[in-house]
Amino acid sequence: MCGIFGAVVREGDVTPAILDGLALLEYRGYDSAGIAVFTSRGMERRRRVGKLEILRNALAKEGFGGPATIGVGHTRWATHGGVTEANAHPHSDSKDELVLVHNGIIENYLDLRGDLITKGHQFLSSTDSEVLAHAIEDRLQTIERGGARQHPDISALEEAVMSAARAARGTYAIVVLHKRYPDRIIVARQDSPVVIGIGRGAAFVASDVPALLRHTRSVYYLRDGEVATLTTEGVGVRTLDGKVVSYRPQEIAWDAAATDRRGYPHYMLKEIEEQPDAIAQTAFDRLDDENGDVRFEDFDVSDEKLKSAQRIQIIACGTSLHAGFVGKFLIEEFAGLPVECDYASEFRYRTPLPSKDVIAIGISQSGETMDTLKGLGQARERGAAILDICNVKGSSIPRMSDATIYTHAGPEIGVASTKAFTCQLVALYLLAIRMGRARGRLSRDDGRELLLSLRKLRPRLDALFNDAARESVRALAKKYQGSRDFLFLGRGLNYPIALEGALKLKEISYIHAEGYPAGEMKHGPIAMIDATLPVVVIATRGRDRDKTLNQLEQVRARGGRVIVICNAGDADARRLGDDLIEVPATSDHLAPIVNVIPLQRLAYEIAVCRNLSPDNPRNLAKSVTVE
Ligand code: M6R
Repeated sequence: MCGIFGAVVREGDVTPAILDGLALLEYRGYDSAGIAVFTSRGMERRRRVGKLEILRNALAKEGFGGPATIGVGHTRWATHGGVTEANAHPHSDSKDELVLVHNGIIENYLDLRGDLITKGHQFLSSTDSEVLAHAIEDRLQTIERGGARQHPDISALEEAVMSAARAARGTYAIVVLHKRYPDRIIVARQDSPVVIGIGRGAAFVASDVPALLRHTRSVYYLRDGEVATLTTEGVGVRTLDGKVVSYRPQEIAWDAAATDRRGYPHYMLKEIEEQPDAIAQTAFDRLDDENGDVRFEDFDVSDEKLKSAQRIQIIACGTSLHAGFVGKFLIEEFAGLPVECDYASEFRYRTPLPSKDVIAIGISQSGETMDTLKGLGQARERGAAILDICNVKGSSIPRMSDATIYTHAGPEIGVASTKAFTCQLVALYLLAIRMGRARGRLSRDDGRELLLSLRKLRPRLDALFNDAARESVRALAKKYQGSRDFLFLGRGLNYPIALEGALKLKEISYIHAEGYPAGEMKHGPIAMIDATLPVVVIATRGRDRDKTLNQLEQVRARGGRVIVICNAGDADARRLGDDLIEVPATSDHLAPIVNVIPLQRLAYEIAVCRNLSPDNPRNLAKSVTVE
């Protein structure tokens, strides 16, 4: 979950590039930040507790002793060891010759540490990561003192990294620099994302692609069990046991400007505002209006495969799981297939059942979420075919899947997922139509009608992106910012939207919030209702609206304060709400896309009113690559 950025260049100074790279990765962790570079003075390192800004300020006051052509930085999301400067990365070895940053968890670090302490190593942090720096130092010493070489064709440093990595159990992306090998950066990976950027006379390494785009679009996603050596001459890749890997870099289509805030105060707001375009990019090139069907690019799943499926298993976490809950409704209705939708962290530890004729669908913005990745691995072992919906090309989940539907949301930097979610809803809508058509459950005309609704959605969204719409949510945020709890209610396709509204608010405003199926409220949560509890009720027109309004009456009867999400001109909903958020009308199936947008905005505005940073909520990281 931590952010890593490293660079080796022929000329110039890497320090500003590392700090800027880390700024784009700060969404991955901001407990502490650190940087190490090699200057004419030798290895220089600065670490600070807190956000990157604090490190930047420290460097502005007391910079390094000159320019550096090689260095590495890290933003930490603490797992082992508290948030202290000693626990901040980069860590070093006993002689301050080697520096190392790590993302992941070394499960056997206590054993490794015990052995190294016996050999005289002294540890300065309580992290699991530091053990790797000492383990590499230990092996390097042995090799340099004439120990038997397994791979005399590579440097002793590479061999030491390989040997230490083989001894480590757990997950890691590590980046290693050494004073006596000042021309190279060594990177190794197991179950933690890391991407190599290949430039002209320069090479880079980062936890995620957006941080690389200012330097290069040519990237290679290092795979599990691989070690890369980066120099200004190029990048070499080997397996952990030294075999040369011939790899092909891929070109990334995203442009660097997409990773800027473009004048918005926060990424989250920018990403909320980008949704109409992101939705259009995810949808429109794929619509086969003539045949009432959908054509996904590079999606090699035959009609036979879709026809023979007996069950769908959706696996995801957080916001992506909420998209999955919507997908369950859509696939069951359009394709006539039973769908189970599970928290990946639960699914992966459940009793294995054989899953032949099951299609497992992983949903993930990042494509790197460990629980989802492992859950899909489990599903594969049980015999399921694996599909995924993902926003990041070439990330781990697409790489292990049989076929991927990419959401074209562009880079999402805000920790709270917004545009990726609405694009996931679009992708699921399209997939459900594709399945329905392949299985003969939807006719050509049915398909055409569903595609037409989607085409009509885009212009209707404009009503959510004008000053009046923005201002009305802002006013509500001001009114309710002091509330201690919130309840979100929705029915059917809008129940997952109630869950998502509550998650957004919890994540960035730290207000306790619960999402509940509207009809279930009377079985418990109704006890909480009083005049201090705002209840957000999603009651747009459609098959569930009347029942939802009934539940709303029950909230009113108990003195609850109701914020209704309804369609313009709905007099009944108007009468029952203390406050209203009006949204444009659309079909039942597309209403979740429309209804979630004001809830994202409400969470954002409340966080701003409470002087919180929506892009960097406490304790959270965007990409959860540990268990
Ligand atoms: O990258 P993924 O979609 O797999 O991430 C899953 C969750 O960690 C993510 O949706 C998380 O809940 C977000 N912070 C939601 O805003």
